[in-house]
Amino acid sequence: MPGSFFISSIHKMIKQDRMKITIFLFLFIAYIVYSIIIYTKGTKEVVSVSNSEMTEISRGKLLFQQYNCTACHQLYGLGGYLGPELTTAYSDKNRGESLMRSFLKNGGAQMPDFHLREKDITALISFLKYVDKTAITYKQN
Ligand code: HEC
Repeated sequence: MPGSFFISSIHKMIKQDRMKITIFLFLFIAYIVYSIIIYTKGTKEVVSVSNSEMTEISRGKLLFQQYNCTACHQLYGLGGYLGPELTTAYSDKNRGESLMRSFLKNGGAQMPDFHLREKDITALISFLKYVDKTAITYKQN
């Protein structure tokens, strides 16, 4: 019967619309929830360090300036180009702390050996670790 075909297609349309309304409502609610989270919590990750860590980091920063590491290395893209960029060296899977320590201890093919004291090496690494931690927007995923 042509009449029943008509009715069944109306039924189909209503079903499809219900689906659309459900999807719309789901996306709308997700949008509201997401907005609330962003507005109340923000997107900023807070890097918290203790006072003693901050002292160590500051000492490392001072050493980084005193030894003029920026002559050969960049932080946030600024500095010399003889050596590699160090902004995210700490969290780099192929580099990281042990490679840092070994270069700071012995120098490299082109990197000079500064004959640093152990505690100065540790301070420099603390500084580079902190730079890495705060370099959220600089990291490539
Ligand atoms: C004369 C240039 C020069 C200076 C100054 C210098 N470096 Fe380097 N550094 C290099 C080069 C070049 C390399 C790459 C390895 C090599 O060829 O020796 C390197 C490697 C490194 C690495 C390992 C890099 C990696 O891939 O993770 C670290 C960490 C590092 N340097 C830290 C420092 C720090 C901290 C200072 C300051 C105390 C410093 N460098 C001063 C030239 C330099």
